[in-house]
Amino acid sequence: MKFTKIFGSLVALTTSALAFYTKEDPILEINPNNWQKEVIKSDQVVLAEFYAPWCGHCRNLAPQYKKAAEKLRGLAKVVAVNCDEDANKPICGQMGIQGFPTVKVFHPLSVDPTGNVRTKQTITDYQGPRSAKPIVDFVLGKVIDVVKKIRSAEEMDTFINDTTFTRAILFTNKMKTPVLFQSLALQYSKRILLGEVKDSVSDVVAKYNIEKFPSVVVFNKDTTEPIVYDGVMKHQGISEFFDKYAPPATEKIVLGEKPKPFDPKVAEITNDEELKKCIEGFGTCAIAVLAYEEEFEESVKQHEEEMKILETLKKNNHEKNGPFKFAWINGVVRGKQFARDFDLPDMFPSFLIINGKQKIFRVDRGAFDVEGITDFLKQVRNGRGRNFSYTKEPVLDIKKEAKKDEL
Ligand SMILES: *[C@@H]1O[C@H](CO)[C@@H](O)[C@H](O)[C@H]1NC(C)=O
Ligand SMILES: *[C@@H]1O[C@H](CO)[C@@H](O)[C@H](O)[C@H]1NC(C)=O
Repeated sequence: MKFTKIFGSLVALTTSALAFYTKEDPILEINPNNWQKEVIKSDQVVLAEFYAPWCGHCRNLAPQYKKAAEKLRGLAKVVAVNCDEDANKPICGQMGIQGFPTVKVFHPLSVDPTGNVRTKQTITDYQGPRSAKPIVDFVLGKVIDVVKKIRSAEEMDTFINDTTFTRAILFTNKMKTPVLFQSLALQYSKRILLGEVKDSVSDVVAKYNIEKFPSVVVFNKDTTEPIVYDGVMKHQGISEFFDKYAPPATEKIVLGEKPKPFDPKVAEITNDEELKKCIEGFGTCAIAVLAYEEEFEESVKQHEEEMKILETLKKNNHEKNGPFKFAWINGVVRGKQFARDFDLPDMFPSFLIINGKQKIFRVDRGAFDVEGITDFLKQVRNGRGRNFSYTKEPVLDIKKEAKKDEL
């Protein structure tokens, strides 16, 4: 008896030391494949813990973090990033994580004039006590209210008549918009427009035969017919109901700003300004330096093949939500100084990545084909291998215009 008991608790100890969070916890473990989608591009408020399994403070926080995650179920997304995992190191580096645990909240900052779309995600460090309640309060404080308040029959008509989007209305007798509805509005932002009607707007309540509060009604895109939700007023039921009418998350309707369609072409960098934009902007600039001489048939042919390789890489990167921006420089025309500065091999084509924010670069010494470069980019992305620093501002050769009176 005694023996089994001790044995049992020993097993429990070892497993909890190995796996911090399990599938049963409402906590999503982050890896490079889901980081962008689940955290950076999330419209919801995201609570994120950056931890290392060996860290004692992290182990102390774990039960409180789980408790907070339970309380936040349906109200915010809760994730954890194991920074000890090699693949996650670039994420933790990029987030500037210096100690464990670090708790951050990713949240929308404001709404655009249509009142429905978050314009910007911002990140706030949580510095409070490491226990569930203050963490939950902090996270809920970051849920902004983008629910459209409908105060009259006329406003209701305007809202319902615009059939370009799926719309949902909460009929409520509460003074404040419930936080669950606020977070649903963020979760479905750009997919369903959420509005709220108070019980005091009696003509609207009567028109839609609302008999109890809360009630949730959906108006599908292209119609003004109400569809009443008759399930439990909890996140899971309501979101399953919304999912039936919402366009898929991948086809978000963007109000105001139109999403740029994917452009498969890889652009040529022809001046210092474009070069600067690529290397200093968002993401990591990946540049092919090619030898392209349009007067030679052979060169034109080779160039077409090289561009095909780059376009394939760009497409793959796009599909995987990768961090790279692809461009090319014509090395024989304006890349000689650039090739010297970045220690490129004597022969073009060559390939390198440059990160202007960190002032680092790395040259691909492998084959110039899809497989070789993919391999190189994977290494860069996973933080394997070594980057080199540079100090001098990257520049292109200035092409001297031939004077009109010269041959
Ligand atoms: C909404 O549509 C109805 C029916 O087509 C119409 O009678 C009403 O005037 C419209 N109201 C607004 C505010 O657009
Ligand atoms: C090298 O730079 C890339 C791009 O900025 C970065 O993702 C990667 O983590 C870096 N690798 C190392 C080992 O620091």
